Amino acid sequence: MRKIIITLDGFSSCGKSTLARQLANELNYVFIDSGAMYRAITLYFLRHRIDWNHSEEVVKALKHITLDFQYNPSSGKSDMYLNHEDVEVPIREMPVSDNVSAVSAVREVREFAVAQQQLMGVKKGIVMDGRDIGTTVFPNAELKIFVVADPAIRVERRFKEMFEKNPKITIEEVKNNLESRDYIDSHREVSPLRKAEDAIELDNSNLSREEQLEVVLKWAQAKIL
Ligand code: DC
Repeated sequence: MRKIIITLDGFSSCGKSTLARQLANELNYVFIDSGAMYRAITLYFLRHRIDWNHSEEVVKALKHITLDFQYNPSSGKSDMYLNHEDVEVPIREMPVSDNVSAVSAVREVREFAVAQQQLMGVKKGIVMDGRDIGTTVFPNAELKIFVVADPAIRVERRFKEMFEKNPKITIEEVKNNLESRDYIDSHREVSPLRKAEDAIELDNSNLSREEQLEVVLKWAQAKIL
């Protein structure tokens, strides 16, 4: 069976990563959460007080960043490692979420991340989710999916996820964070979030995890077989 590249793009918290991970499991493909890479870079910048508005500082800092994913047998998922440290927990917390869209709008940051993402796809057999995967990272991908979901449903999903880790979080904080990320991600100069012309749209507002997986598996199998 031939191996292909599958891209899933869309706004924050529309369920892309869950779907991409399930799809990769079913196909025995590698799953890459590209957002985790931007989050890890943001964590490094925050910890080292890097001013991301100064390109010289950014270029220097990026030279000290190594990113990789390592399988975690207890969760059954791959964790993000920043300079050999498992940063899966801090990259999902609010300080990173509040700054990641600004950091990922920086040209040098994108060039750094995109180059690594493209290397990960050389052998194909990969499912990658993000914002610009179908447009910039893999413009020739065999299957491109653009995931959309009702904004109120996205806020609710994100709130539930964040509340489990931090019961002090409010729905307003989550809503404000999503709205501002949506705006920055889709209005930035370099690789803004947009649907690739040849992407198929999937609205999962009213679909269960199983239902959405069934839909995309059919699309994938049609391309592979
Ligand atoms: O998928 P996520 O919400 O974890 O992504 C975090 C941020 O990273 C998102 O707000 C925008 C940025 N991002 C990006 O610019 N390009 C990608 N391919 C993936 C994420």
